[in-house]
Amino acid sequence: MQISGLAALVTGGGSGLGAATAAHLAGLGCKVAVVDINQAAAEAQAERIGGLGIACDVADAESGEAAFSRARAAHGPVRILVNCAGVGTAGRIVGRDGPLKLDAFERVIRINLIGSFNMLRLAAAEMSAADPLEENERGVIINTASIAAYEGQVGQPAYAASKGGVVGMTLPAARELARAGVRVMTIAPGLFHTPMVDGLPPDVQASLGAGIPYPPRLGQPGEYAALVEHIVRNRFLNGEVIRLDGALRMTPR
Ligand SMILES: NC(=O)c1ccc[n+]([C@@H]2O[C@H](COP(=O)([O-])OP(=O)(O)OC[C@H]3O[C@@H](n4cnc5c(N)ncnc54)[C@H](O)[C@@H]3O)[C@@H](O)[C@H]2O)c1
Repeated sequence: MQISGLAALVTGGGSGLGAATAAHLAGLGCKVAVVDINQAAAEAQAERIGGLGIACDVADAESGEAAFSRARAAHGPVRILVNCAGVGTAGRIVGRDGPLKLDAFERVIRINLIGSFNMLRLAAAEMSAADPLEENERGVIINTASIAAYEGQVGQPAYAASKGGVVGMTLPAARELARAGVRVMTIAPGLFHTPMVDGLPPDVQASLGAGIPYPPRLGQPGEYAALVEHIVRNRFLNGEVIRLDGALRMTPR
């Protein structure tokens, strides 16, 4: 898809991979809606890149609908959705205080999986109703899973299950939306240098990076954003999950 001038909506756009993607797409000439539950972060990033900041809880049906309708009023129908909103809350199945609270498991599934589906379904409806572009293409949806979908570590049952769900819905979504010319792809990042990792001591950051076969460092958010750009441009990419991890395979702990 020719990117310049298209309307894009990036969830989790206030921080990390989403913020980098929002900036990258704005730099390519997109009209970008920066969507985040953290209103201040969404607005600050929107201000930096000349986009529209929207406070939204992706896991809430009405909040998602309101975000799409605000973005549509400002930019027209969305053509690119990038789902980056997510939480990485860890917790063992049986911890010091007994079994993992069911609420804790449910919260991660709600935000990472149901939140991604909520925004995907709304984008799919809006894209399907929009005018066809070149080769009858109407839009591209890109989700963010994690390599934890394949190699979840101890303490990641909820996170890995939520990301496994995102991997699993990619192909059926691409198959269903093919008739409308809407592509669905998922990126499964390895370890990236985002605010989540910034909070760790420098030696821990260095050792995390050193465990990556090549290049032996954490991924840069710009490398994630560059893959988003390629997926949007390359019409033959559809219904697939791409690992972006420097050949890292996570160990049990
Ligand atoms: N950083 C990594 O190494 C890494 C690795 C694999 C996968 N991922 C995935 O990439 C995505 C982005 O991660 P990141 O490292 O940039 O994290 P981050 O914490 O920097 O950014 C996530 C953003 O999502 C927002 N968010 C959280 N819950 C939300 C909700 N209910 N509604 C709307 N926004 C919400 C947060 O406010 C935050 O701004 C996540 O889905 C994460 O699981 C990250």
